[in-house]
Amino acid sequence: MSKIEQTLSIIKPDAVERKLEGEIKEMFKNNGFVILKEKKIQIEKNEAEKFYKVHEAKPFYNDLCDYLSSGPIVVMVLEKENAVLGNRNLMGATNPKDAKEGTIRKKYGISIDKNSVHGSDSVENAKIEIDFFFSN
Ligand code: CMP
Repeated sequence: MSKIEQTLSIIKPDAVERKLEGEIKEMFKNNGFVILKEKKIQIEKNEAEKFYKVHEAKPFYNDLCDYLSSGPIVVMVLEKENAVLGNRNLMGATNPKDAKEGTIRKKYGISIDKNSVHGSDSVENAKIEIDFFFSN
């Protein structure tokens, strides 16, 4: 069953630094996503730690939080039918090496850390993540 959903997308520091913001947004729009909200920000490490708290116990947690707070990012609320799954499909596998042709991470990702984009992994987490960046 299809339903209109919202999901959170982040264009990560590696992609912003390489000036890929416009091209990545075009990929979202060409795939039917509406960008409802967006802002370019730089977050502190303690905010990255809160955002990625679900990964707290992972060996890569500290580097991940250093990385997300290392430069400007673009956070967006994307909307379309089945947006959460659609965005995950468009992003491709977490590791760009495993990502399929035509996905954002295949096209732009550098490594599992510098994989250019983040997207919510469930409708429930999408609400939490959208709230994290856009409740004020
Ligand atoms: P993201 O979708 O933003 O969610 C958590 C991030 O951790 C992930 O993308 C990767 O960039 C990063 N990461 C680094 N190492 C790993 C790993 N071994 N497994 C999964 N994610 C990893």
